Parts: sequence; structure tokens; C-alpha cells
Amino acid sequence: MRAYDLIKHKRDGGALTSEQVRALVAGYVDGSVADYQMAAFAMAVFFRGMSGDEVVGLTQAMLHSGIVVDLADVPGVKVDKHSTGGVGDKISLPLAPAVAACGVPVPMVSGRGLGHTGGTLDKLESIPGFKVDLPLTDYRRLVRDLGCCLIGQTKEIAPADKKLYALRDVTATVDCIPLIASSIMSKKLAEGIDALVLDVKVGSGAFMKKRDDAATLARTMVELGAGMGKQVVARLTSMEQPLGALVGNALEVLESIEVLSGGGPKDVVELTVELGAEMLVLGKVARDVADGRARISKSLQDGSAKERFGRIIEAQGGDRRVLDDVRRLPTAPRTLPVPAPRAGYVTAVDTEAVGIASMLLGGGRQRASDAVDPRVGLAVHRRIGDRVEAGEPLVTLHVADAGVDAAAARARDAFVIGDGPVPAPALFLERIAGGTA
Ligand code: URA
Repeated sequence: MRAYDLIKHKRDGGALTSEQVRALVAGYVDGSVADYQMAAFAMAVFFRGMSGDEVVGLTQAMLHSGIVVDLADVPGVKVDKHSTGGVGDKISLPLAPAVAACGVPVPMVSGRGLGHTGGTLDKLESIPGFKVDLPLTDYRRLVRDLGCCLIGQTKEIAPADKKLYALRDVTATVDCIPLIASSIMSKKLAEGIDALVLDVKVGSGAFMKKRDDAATLARTMVELGAGMGKQVVARLTSMEQPLGALVGNALEVLESIEVLSGGGPKDVVELTVELGAEMLVLGKVARDVADGRARISKSLQDGSAKERFGRIIEAQGGDRRVLDDVRRLPTAPRTLPVPAPRAGYVTAVDTEAVGIASMLLGGGRQRASDAVDPRVGLAVHRRIGDRVEAGEPLVTLHVADAGVDAAAARARDAFVIGDGPVPAPALFLERIAGGTA
């Protein structure tokens, strides 16, 4: 079977068998299929799509390109959460310790920010000393002893996805439902979970701009999970504006600490509570979602989630004192307000542009090899539906030396200001679950 023939078959609209997909992925990992051939294949999938069986075949091939972590010796139902990526989406930081504090183990393998989206690993690394590249033996031990560990994709976890994702990122083949679904699910199924909650983002700051596409992506992932015997619940949530008020790595840690201290912006709290409630139900700790909400809210109010995060930070080499003294987080040398060009009401936000503004300041990366500056980002002062007067700040940039003018222009142009008020978009759009979940 030549890679050339498989690419051509896909290009011409044919379907590949599981064996053919497996052979292609195996060849890509061992180097006998070249980057340019895999890029051509990804582009053929982008235009032709994949059948359900092909997506299963691709997911299985990527999952088994590495090891599937065995967490059988950790008591309880292990549940993770994954977001398809957005702007200001720091939910994993308060969520994982809150769920662990409520008694459900959370094995969490996260990603880095790429393009306009932020990544949990970059945020965690802005906590001085925090290590995300722990060996799997430490990962297993911490999930067992602390109920949570927050690491990056190691070389053992779905290496084919790691290689393919980097290739897709530079060949304009990221925003493709079968490729996203198989990428996310191969990693999640490898990390040792029993069940999974997916936060599928929809809107101007998400990969999926349209609700129908997001629902198709969610359904594809729920079915992939069910096919592997895992319960998966997907929530479609709005990314029509940044989540919370702060965007940027250390800034998002700061906002997460507010949530873990019983405060924080309403949308960040609501999303943490809702996704956490779903996880507690899947983890068989809560009777139903209402009971789950009450338990997560209590853990945020009574300090138990914050205490758990402190233990996780310490175990992963970080300085837990940031939790009580946020001045220990890296801070940008200066701030710069971006004024509204006119008076009116915010009617829409180009959330992707807000994410790009943060990236231009150094908070994100254009290429996977770029370093990020943990100090920079934006504070967002106006949300959809809010009134603003001419000259009042829409956002405040937290800047170092890079990209200030370009970021200011992007941030200003991201806000559409109209004459009349509009309703704020709903945060929760749809729930998609398989079988018994
Ligand atoms: N996140 C992933 O892990 N993979 C994708 O393809 C897109 C988002």
C-alpha cells in the first residue's frame, strides 16, 4: 500500500479502511510517510471529510501510536474535562482542583496555546516553578494521592497526534471536524480516563464559528467515546466574547485564584460550576447535576478547592504562596488603556481578534516553537450589551516590549459599537450526551 495511493483515493472522495488509516499513521510516525504526504492527506480530509468508520480508525491509530495509561490502581471513576479552545478560557485551573476536592480523580493532559487560543500549560507555567512535563510515574502517583495532576502530552501519549497536530497547524488544516475529533479523543482516551466532559466552544473566538458545526463535532466525539466504552458528555458553550475579564497567562491564573477564593467573574464561575457538576455526576459522587452544582460551589466557597490547588502546585514544583499573594505572579512592566472610538453599546466582539491581540503582545505563539511571555495580556472592561462612552477604555493592555501598536489596533477594532442595546449572548447552548450519560 503506497501512501501516494491512499492520498489519491481520499482526494478523489473514497473512504479508507481502518487498516489503510493505521498503515498511513504508522508510516508517518516511523518516518516512511513524509510530512508533505501527511499534509496532503490532511488537506484531502479537510475537503472530503471522513466517514464515521474512518474517524474511528484514525482515532484508534493515533491512540495506539503510544501507550494507554493504566490508572486501574486509582480508586474511583476518573473523569477529565477538555475544551476545544477559546479566549480567556481558564476553566481547567479552578475546575480540576474543585472536582478533585469533591472526591473525583482528575487525570488531566492539557495543551499549549496556539494562534489566538490560550493553553492550560502556558497558564500553569506562569506560576513560578510549576512543572508540566512530569514523567508518567509521577502523574499516576499524583492522581492517586492528590486526586489530580496537570501535565502536557508526553512522548508516550498519542505521539502520532502530536506530530500531526503540529503539521496541521502550519498547513491550514486545524479547523476540520474529523481531524479535531480524532486529535482530541486520541489524547483523552490515552490518559487513563473512565469518562469525559467536553466543552465545545461556539462563536467568534472558537474554531467552530457555527453552532451546527460545533454540534457535529460534539456528537462525533461523544460517539467516539461510546465506541471505546467511555461516557462522554458535551456542552456547547458560547465563545462570542472572552470568558471572564482577563486574557493572558499570569492574568488568567490571577482570575482563577479569584474564583478559587469564592469570587471571580460570573461567567467563569458558572462554567466552572456547570462543567464540574457534570464531572461529579459521571464520577458517581453527585446524585444529579443540581447536587453536583451545590458541591462544586461549596468547594469554591469553603476554600477546599483552593487548598487542593495549593497541594497540586506544591507537588508539581510550584510556589503555592501565589494563592495568597498574587504579587508573586509575573507582572507586565506597564499598562495601556484602549479607548472606545465612539459612544454606544457593545453589540459584538471579534473574540479571535482579542486573542490575536494577546498573542501579538507575546502572550501566545504563532509557531509551536515560540516562547510565551507570561506577563502580558488584556483586561476586558466591556461585554456585549454594555454601554460605553467615547474615550472610556474598552480594554487595558498589559504590555512588555512586543507588538503594542498592532495589539492596540486589533483590540479596538474587535469591539463593534452600535446605537442600541442588545441582549448578552447565552453562555450555555446545548447538551449532547451518549447512551446513559
Ligand atoms: N485541540 C486538539 O487537541 N486538537 C485539535 O485538533 C484542535 C484542538
